Amino acid sequence: MLTETFAAGTQLEAQPSRTIPDYLQDNYWWAYIHPLAVRFFERQWLVNAILCGNFARLRDAVLDELGAPISGRTLQVACVYGDFSVRLADRIAPGGSLDVVDVLPIQLQNLRRKLTTSTPVTLHHCDSTALGFADASYDQAVIFFLLHEQPALVRKQTIAEALRVVKPGGKLVIVDYHRPAQVHPIRYLLRPLLRALEPYALD
Ligand SMILES: C[S@@+](CC[C@H](N)C(=O)[O-])C[C@H]1O[C@@H](n2cnc3c(N)ncnc32)[C@H](O)[C@@H]1O
Repeated sequence: MLTETFAAGTQLEAQPSRTIPDYLQDNYWWAYIHPLAVRFFERQWLVNAILCGNFARLRDAVLDELGAPISGRTLQVACVYGDFSVRLADRIAPGGSLDVVDVLPIQLQNLRRKLTTSTPVTLHHCDSTALGFADASYDQAVIFFLLHEQPALVRKQTIAEALRVVKPGGKLVIVDYHRPAQVHPIRYLLRPLLRALEPYALD
């Protein structure tokens, strides 16, 4: 099991490449792994542009779904560029907590830099397919634009793990792409783009 917890301000060790999933290394090195990737993509306007101007609407829909404030234990599966986690942390109720997992230390380091809040946020170096948490230990979990980047089997394991750690009666919020409508013009633009950049999003 690959679970390592980083407290605020901790320097993270470089991660051995064997712990990086192949699909991430092969298809997304330019987006998440390369040190210049973080410097390039960590821009709110750019993340919003990639989501066709929908970032804030989708982020706020997740936050509203989780509560205002959000009580109990919350898990975010995988870091996100932009202010998603910062806003999520700001919504955590007194006595509540937020755990964020990611398989890339560089992404956890980047998130740590963005978190200025006093809310208890714990970052975990951990794979979404093998969360090192007890069954039914979270009141809610959120997976924001991760699943389309994962091969089908990995995606299933990620969902199974998230469902395992959320309490019965708790909530799992998933936000991701859906298929464009048959007649939508973007359908024809999107296909070649996805084939080149996000191959697992096609299904
Ligand atoms: C949530 S997704 C994409 C989100 C969105 N496109 C954005 O703006 O960041 C990207 C994150 O997922 C993480 N990730 C990918 N596969 C993972 C896995 N198996 N376990 C944990 N984190 C993973 C990557 O390291 C990266 O930080």
